[in-house]
Amino acid sequence: MADTRPVGVFDSDLGGLTVLREILRQCPTEACVYVADGEAAPYGTKSEAFLQERSARITEFLLEQEAKAIVVACNTASVAALSSLRERFTVPFVGIDPAVKPAVALTQTGTIGVLATTATAASDRLARLIHDYANGVRVITRECASLVELVEAGVVEGPEVDTALAEVVGPALAEGADVLVLACTHLPFLAPAIARLAGPGIKLVDPSTAVARQLQRVLTDQQLEGTSEAGPPLYYSTGEQNVFAARLSQLLGPLATPVRSAAV
Ligand code: DGL
Repeated sequence: MADTRPVGVFDSDLGGLTVLREILRQCPTEACVYVADGEAAPYGTKSEAFLQERSARITEFLLEQEAKAIVVACNTASVAALSSLRERFTVPFVGIDPAVKPAVALTQTGTIGVLATTATAASDRLARLIHDYANGVRVITRECASLVELVEAGVVEGPEVDTALAEVVGPALAEGADVLVLACTHLPFLAPAIARLAGPGIKLVDPSTAVARQLQRVLTDQQLEGTSEAGPPLYYSTGEQNVFAARLSQLLGPLATPVRSAAV
């Protein structure tokens, strides 16, 4: 029997929309509820304890909306809170690990760049992934808070973006990185600008396709799949509803629908 309950998806604000649009593309039979946690944004400067508590509260909100599975569409919340969420709740979670492993498989120069928030860059999880998978490959981690701010301001192209990218990405390229891991879900919105700066020989690893695929696998394994065309996603914002609504239609165009306010 079809399970018509929605999939819950959340991030600090806009970044998780890059994951949501991939879920909508790959899983058209799934209804989705997206929570943009603008009130607590950015996540990248917050402590692990804060992120665990906040992620638990958003999960409770999504469970009230009857979520049958939850996608933590954020590297920062995933590295900080995924294990504690799995201990606290029985609903299945899909999270995002910084994609070190696939990047290591792709590099030809033996150097990769990981673009991540301050919290992700400092996390035990990233250190563990590098330890387990880097295999002699040099990993240059670059903090991307300035890029997150630009996306939040709706600026995804132009001179400000180019200047910020030169500062964040430039040093990794200068060190010979030929693969860049987009280890923050805001960054795929800047992928065209990053690709232009980096040039044709440089590969970008965006994990959103793999996350949507993993969600599909989990839903199938646990017999939670929806089976007929689902309605459009529902959007909730814990922050400035109108600002989120404007960015949403700028970034997702026809996938945007009216935004509701969520008290979390
Ligand atoms: N988009 C998020 C991530 O993947 C968090 C960005 C932020 O709020 O600092 O890490």
